[in-house]
Parts: sequence; C-alpha cells; structure tokens
Amino acid sequence: MAKLNILEFPDPRLTTVASAVVVFDEALKLLVADMTETMYSAHGIGLAATQVNVHKRLLVLDVSEEQNQPRVYINPDILSRSGEQSHEEGCLSVPGIYASVKRAENITVRAVGIDGISFEEQLEGLHAVCIQHEMDHLIGRLFVDYLSPLKRNMVRKKLEKQRKVASQEAEDHLVI
Ligand code: NI
Repeated sequence: MAKLNILEFPDPRLTTVASAVVVFDEALKLLVADMTETMYSAHGIGLAATQVNVHKRLLVLDVSEEQNQPRVYINPDILSRSGEQSHEEGCLSVPGIYASVKRAENITVRAVGIDGISFEEQLEGLHAVCIQHEMDHLIGRLFVDYLSPLKRNMVRKKLEKQRKVASQEAEDHLVI
C-alpha cells in the first residue's frame, strides 16, 4: 500500500467532476487500499478519489470511534434525503479550516461495493454528513463553496499564509 498525495484548495483539479467506475479489478482494490491508508494517516474520517487526483466516483470513510471500520462506496447515489442537520466540517483538502454546513439528516444511499455488488443503506447523523461531504468532492464541490464569497476568500488567504509560513520554515531548516 502507499500513501497518496492529497490535493489542497484552491487546486483547480479539486473542481473536476468524476466519472463512474466501470472496471472492478485489482487496480481498483489497490486504489481503495491506498485511499484508506491515506485517510487514516491524515486522521480524516473520509476521503474522495477526487482529492487524490483520481477522477472516478468512489469514496472511503470510517466514522467508527475506534477507526477500525473502513467502508468504500463506489458510484454512490443519494436516493432520498430528509431532515436537516448542521455540523462543523473540516476537510483534508482545506487544512485547518472549519465551518458549519447544513446537510440532510437522513439519506438513503445506493452504491456498489469493491466486489461489484450493489447495496442500499439508510444513514443518519455523522455517517450521512460524511457521505454528503465526500459526494460533493465527486462533483467538484468543497464545503467552503457553501460559504459566502467573502468568507471563502478569507479561507484562501489563510491557507496561502499557512503555506508561506511552512515553506519559510522549510527554508530555515534542513528538511531531508
Ligand atoms: Ni473533504
């Protein structure tokens, strides 16, 4: 397995709309394994293929407390949604930024597993939030897109500043 590079806002590749997975082979299994490892090592609870610059409709997540129940959703579709909830969300592609986003409370999702078999699930709470957040990535949307243009610009500036500090630190130190 390998850790993959995660694209960060405002990288334009994050706005790509992913296409359906049609081939279920060893390469897909490897991608899922790599994405799962990447998600755990970055301490995320979800990761969409878009974020690792693979523009296919699949996502991994683990909303369990022990972080030992990885799940994969391939070609996910939301069949129904109801209710409303707001969570403070973050994103591995927008590091250090958190904002409250309104999502459906209950959803019914249909997706395909790594075995190529279709399944349906009714989800609520954090699991539902996570799927909706990751599915947004697959259509090129980030949670900061729900913010006002003014706030989104503040996020952009904050990230630029963070990166400048990080690269200055790298210059000042011997980074091997
Ligand atoms: Ni995200």
